[in-house]
Amino acid sequence: MSQHILVIDEGTTSTRAVAFTPEGRIAGEANAPLTQGFPRSGWVEHDAAEIWERSLACAQEVAGAVGADSIAALGLTNQRETVVFWDRETGEPLSPAIVWQDRRTAERCAALKGAGCEPFVQARTGLLLDPYFSATKIAWGADNWPEVRRAADKDRLAAGTVDAYLRYRLSRGETFETDATNAARTLLMDLAGLHWSDDLCDLFDVSRGWIPFIGKNAGHLGDCVVIGGRTIPMTGAAGDQQAAAIGQACFSPGAVKSTYGTGAFLIANAGAEPPSSEHRLLATLGWDVPGESVYALEGSIFVAGSAVQWLRDQLGLIAAAAETEALARSVETTEGAMFVPAFAGLGAPYWEPDVRGAITGLSGATGKAHIVRACLEAMGNQTADVLEAMAADGVEPGVLKIDGGMVANDWLCQDLADACGVEVERPEIIETTALGAAMLAAVGAGLYASLEEAAAAMRRVDRRFEPRISADRRGERRQSWRRAISVLTGAAA
Ligand code: G3P
Repeated sequence: MSQHILVIDEGTTSTRAVAFTPEGRIAGEANAPLTQGFPRSGWVEHDAAEIWERSLACAQEVAGAVGADSIAALGLTNQRETVVFWDRETGEPLSPAIVWQDRRTAERCAALKGAGCEPFVQARTGLLLDPYFSATKIAWGADNWPEVRRAADKDRLAAGTVDAYLRYRLSRGETFETDATNAARTLLMDLAGLHWSDDLCDLFDVSRGWIPFIGKNAGHLGDCVVIGGRTIPMTGAAGDQQAAAIGQACFSPGAVKSTYGTGAFLIANAGAEPPSSEHRLLATLGWDVPGESVYALEGSIFVAGSAVQWLRDQLGLIAAAAETEALARSVETTEGAMFVPAFAGLGAPYWEPDVRGAITGLSGATGKAHIVRACLEAMGNQTADVLEAMAADGVEPGVLKIDGGMVANDWLCQDLADACGVEVERPEIIETTALGAAMLAAVGAGLYASLEEAAAAMRRVDRRFEPRISADRRGERRQSWRRAISVLTGAAA
């Protein structure tokens, strides 16, 4: 087979396009940064026009490089929860997009919690009342942005996650559809039935007329007419974390992956029924392909790579992320420094939207390398928090499958194994999100009969890292981390 699968992987801080061979080799790649606006503390916005233009430009560049005629199918994967408001007649954005990290609806979520709505919402959606999810963002836009309100009054408002917006534009307005993994993150979808819930739309003041149809993750998902001058079928689409779980072949119940991108997200396969968490994890959809719906348990960590970006762009401690590995190795410990990167509040398992970050334990001996090391150690500390919650919910992975740009750093991989006391496995292609979307698209296009078959052909393991520190040392580290967290949350360690 010489056909390529072209994937658009639209993330929080950058967008990329990757062409894969049916054997899972990368044949071409392009990426572009995305601008984030921070108009107030806790607010995070994107320019949706830029998301479209840069994603399309990357796709066109890669199509040009590998030959547009060689592209058999298109896959899409995206940052989840972020809300775009656009005009259904022109396809043009009506306002900034409100990013998943945005906390502007914290008060609204607190009010709903105060009114006792969380148990109902959790039972229906698997999610919690946190500004992370889309519903309160949609209502905020409709209430506060006159352009959005005007479009709603004229029945022209489209409000949806980034996948729905890109699919609308890629199909020149023919497709107004999202997929169930993205819909599962809105607080508006009934998780067991995989359909919009009228009760939830009423609760969050979101009109059914604004939101897209919910479709599957693989199959014929629409015709894309703007790449390489020909019509290419989209045959796979999923939220980025679910795509990574597919790319990591998390096909049996209990298999767990963790992706280190802008944030870090652990997903455990939970089988054919929605799970329920007693320990502040999320129940969500893994994938919904013809013949199979798989559910998942998720631990969402809001800050991972963005902490390293902050060291680079705001503090100027490093010139490039790749420098962190040598700096972390250059010191034996952090000399007591502890970095809690709660820039956007704390996600799982704390769910504290108002908490902000801190570096504790500073002394005159603390230098740049200690702070960089503490920043990387925060990845292991946060991952261990989620794995402990998963264990309490009955999921104990034998191996943690890791991916995302940060895991190119061997020191970080070893530290994840040490912090969590679990064997860690790194795949050959660490941009596993894009690979997972390619697997979905390959199955949707009929190149492979199942995701398992696609994974057997397209996924390879690079290396495993065994934990090297003693249980006592790990225990001390966990204790220091819990103390640092409790200073911020006010809870007892
Ligand atoms: O839920 C947010 C997530 O989908 C964002 O992913 O890769 O941009 O960190 P990423």
